[in-house]
Amino acid sequence: MRTMEQSKGMEQAVYPGSFDPITNGHVDIILRGAQLFPRILVAVLENPKKATLFTTDERVAFIRDIFKDRPQIEVEAFHGLLADFVRSRRARIIIRGLRAVSDFEYEMQMAQMNQQLNPDLETLFMMPSARYTFLSSSLVKEVFALGGSVRGLVPETIERRLREKFKAQSESSST
Ligand code: COA
Repeated sequence: MRTMEQSKGMEQAVYPGSFDPITNGHVDIILRGAQLFPRILVAVLENPKKATLFTTDERVAFIRDIFKDRPQIEVEAFHGLLADFVRSRRARIIIRGLRAVSDFEYEMQMAQMNQQLNPDLETLFMMPSARYTFLSSSLVKEVFALGGSVRGLVPETIERRLREKFKAQSESSST
């Protein structure tokens, strides 16, 4: 029989990632996940070994701002093992987006490793809307840095943040 806490865990799903920055592909998965679960916890990876454009605090703040009118969607930073973080939040479900066959192998490895680390975990794969299957955070950064438009690919607030970040970077490199 499930304990109350375990049953409570069923009510929320964790959506982990680097979100450097969050794109409309991620937003799509979060919103669709929110139709399946009463609560979605967006878990932002803090990885000191990975150089990111935006700091962990920035990435968390941007996502909180995007979903500020949806109390059902929470955002938290995490470090260390995802399996431990999910357990510490008394959750059982991890949501991941599968954009293309190329995602499959890596995702399968992660899901199986997470299950090995915490057998209570289930990874639920969702397909992003077809219009976002080509999208990734790196591509967004690259296109933006080279002067291309990312309109419609990221929330407006992220477009603004990208502009500010690249402006600050070019100012500091020219001094
Ligand atoms: N729409 C658009 N882009 C998407 C997407 C979607 N629905 N889903 C994933 N992506 C993109 C991301 O933008 C990212 O692009 P980038 O590589 O160009 O930056 C790429 O796919 C993968 O990113 P993400 O989904 O953020 O995964 P990740 O590989 O950065 O992080 C974690 C995956 C955080 C889940 C994983 O690293 C982890 O669990 N780390 C904690 C340590 C741990 O537990 N390790 C053992 C794992 S078994």
